[in-house]
Amino acid sequence: MSDVSEGRAPAGGHGDRVRPGVSGKRVLVTGGTRGLGEQIVRLLADEGARVATCARTASDLEALEVSLAAAESGRLFTEALDVTEPERLESFVAASATRFGGLDGVVACAGGSRGRGLEQADADDWAATWQLNVGHTARLVRAAVPFLRTAGGGSVVVISSISGWKPGPNAQYGTAKSAQIHLAASLARELGPDGIRVNAVSPGSMLIPGRRWDRMRREDPEAFAAFAAAELPGGEPVAPQEVARVVVFLLSDWSSGISGANLPVDRAQNAPSPDGY
Ligand SMILES: NC(=O)c1ccc[n+]([C@@H]2O[C@H](COP(=O)([O-])OP(=O)(O)OC[C@H]3O[C@@H](n4cnc5c(N)ncnc54)[C@H](OP(=O)(O)O)[C@@H]3O)[C@@H](O)[C@H]2O)c1
Repeated sequence: MSDVSEGRAPAGGHGDRVRPGVSGKRVLVTGGTRGLGEQIVRLLADEGARVATCARTASDLEALEVSLAAAESGRLFTEALDVTEPERLESFVAASATRFGGLDGVVACAGGSRGRGLEQADADDWAATWQLNVGHTARLVRAAVPFLRTAGGGSVVVISSISGWKPGPNAQYGTAKSAQIHLAASLARELGPDGIRVNAVSPGSMLIPGRRWDRMRREDPEAFAAFAAAELPGGEPVAPQEVARVVVFLLSDWSSGISGANLPVDRAQNAPSPDGY
């Protein structure tokens, strides 16, 4: 099993000599202090991009700044806010563009699920899950479009999930992730004339230290092995670093021909959870 903190090395034997070409790009990533968002921010900073990110917890943003050399050279801009508050999100987009003199890309990464199964989840759980995943994505892109247009175009990446088309509980999450995939494809057509590309990336179950699958692997290894045998043809979940590389590729000019796509990064995973489909 590969090291959770590193992910697998890029395939193809090129290693560090291959650069995705995002140096100098100005990118905003929501939800950048943990999990996938943190790995996207770190990779972008390593590759020489200027990165703005947000989360609700100010102390986590401060810790990120301390740990990233990019902060020293003014390439990292952070703000504590809740992305489901429209005015806060819109002013963060404007402040990021002001700080960097424009924007070349945005990543809607903050997401998640509230509530449990159909009979336990109430209307507020459904509304909150949709606001976080779909509502924040639509507002983020809307706020960023004038800046991307001014830059002559840009790249938008929407973080969805294989739960968007591989059914299983909880339905409020899967349906919201499905809507994000449709949103990316629709906006790609609407914004294409402005040179703005829009794509979705759909991770499989990610092995994130301390999170669901990592805990299951440590606390209930038999159940994890059964899940892996049944649902993970690649033998193990993807690491967030592996997903981050695909996101950075989509932000780079190397992916100039891709728009309106949904890229699964799941090693051919079957069901998104042991609850299956
Ligand atoms: N984990 C998986 O296996 C998996 C699989 C497929 C798809 N995904 C998708 O991948 C994305 C990232 O998931 P993850 O598991 O890596 O996330 P995570 O570990 O839960 O991290 C979420 C990040 O977003 C921030 N965030 C959450 N709610 C926020 C809000 N309302 N306003 C501002 N920031 C907020 C968090 O910081 P604060 O808590 O401080 O706000 C944190 O930085 C999500 O869209 C998720 O649906 C995850």
